[in-house]
Amino acid sequence: MLTPSELSLEEMGELAEIIPASDPEVQVHYRAIPSFEETTRRSIIPVCEPTLSGNELQYVEQAIKTNWISSAGSFIHDFEATFAAACGTRYGIACANGTVAIHLALATLGLEPGDEVLLPAFTMIATINAVTYCGATPVLVDSEPDYWQMDVQQAAEKITPRTKAIVPVHIYGHPVDMDPLMEAAQAHGVAVIEDAAEAHGGEYKGRRCGGLGDAATFSFYGNKIITTGEGGMVTTNNAEIAKLAWNLRDHAFSTERHFWHKFVGFNYRMTNLQAAVGLAQVEQLDKFVAARRRNAAEYTSRLQDIPGITTPPQAEWAKNVYWMYGILVDKEAYGMNRDQLRQALAEHGIETRTFFIPMHCQPVYWQMFKGQRYPVAERLCRDGFYLPSASSLTLEEIEYIAGVIREVCPNL
Ligand SMILES: Cc1ncc(COP(=O)(O)O)c(C=O)c1O
Repeated sequence: MLTPSELSLEEMGELAEIIPASDPEVQVHYRAIPSFEETTRRSIIPVCEPTLSGNELQYVEQAIKTNWISSAGSFIHDFEATFAAACGTRYGIACANGTVAIHLALATLGLEPGDEVLLPAFTMIATINAVTYCGATPVLVDSEPDYWQMDVQQAAEKITPRTKAIVPVHIYGHPVDMDPLMEAAQAHGVAVIEDAAEAHGGEYKGRRCGGLGDAATFSFYGNKIITTGEGGMVTTNNAEIAKLAWNLRDHAFSTERHFWHKFVGFNYRMTNLQAAVGLAQVEQLDKFVAARRRNAAEYTSRLQDIPGITTPPQAEWAKNVYWMYGILVDKEAYGMNRDQLRQALAEHGIETRTFFIPMHCQPVYWQMFKGQRYPVAERLCRDGFYLPSASSLTLEEIEYIAGVIREVCPNL
């Protein structure tokens, strides 16, 4: 039987101090925002929620009325083509979620046990799990402190003859510094698969995330900038990767004859119903990105002078799409730590989420990375959390949330 990897805080030693407290209970706070029209519908301000304000219902109805609800049907093709175009790539391969999108993209590379894949220590667990599914060895890279993204210089230094791929992750919607990374990867014949699960519409030097590496992967989970409920996509300009990914997604049926298989394929298909929602969502991508960027500017203008609060960065070469509006709390300067501030916000009906716990601190990967330290990733984990960030967030809500952060600050 499968047994869980146990890891106690005592065993973690010094690293235990970065592990967040459990989530505070968000109090129902009906009078939180007196001028907010929807207080009768919403009793808390959620950290995120989908915005289904376009053609979603119409397209789903069309899929049902035409009897195309499984993984064939025109919405799959239309969603793939439209989303790929939005990323500036030639191909889009829709699949079941963002995790299998990474697995699918890595699988096209033909990774073998012993092959190494570089990825940031500071990411969501799906990135490293997809590497593990391939039987390859994950190698961690720290973040840089300025933009909270994978340190590309450190990544270049960690390339060995066994390195087959690098998976940069555009964390919270801010792109990784891709040019030097691509240069190092190409010099060593290493593939780059962007994990762009959080960066729909993000840009690096004017080019969209999703078209910056050899291939990229996206998630369309309900909390993403565009959603299909559950869903994912691989985007690429490489015809060979695209062909393999389409084939592997669907059990690797061969074109010569049905039920004839030359690869161990997967069933990672997306349904036409999900693609119908996806198409309606891509149509609104630019609107959602504009809303996130406007909300981020509103938050930053209200938070930037509060002592001990670091607002999310944006490099001059980047268009950050603020999938999540994350802040860092300096305990001394602010007067309370991250967990205490989250507790205060929860008492005011405001839901928040802590930053990722780095991969070397995960019970399931503890033995693999034992003794390794990633100071920037650890600091982000200790001090970071994100505020409500949905595209539908209102100015009144932002004012209220920023007002609470100011009001409860013991040092003001
Ligand atoms: C960076 C990153 N990669 C991968 C994923 C996995 O996506 P999904 O939940 O659709 O499998 C996520 C999802 O939250 C993510 O944030």
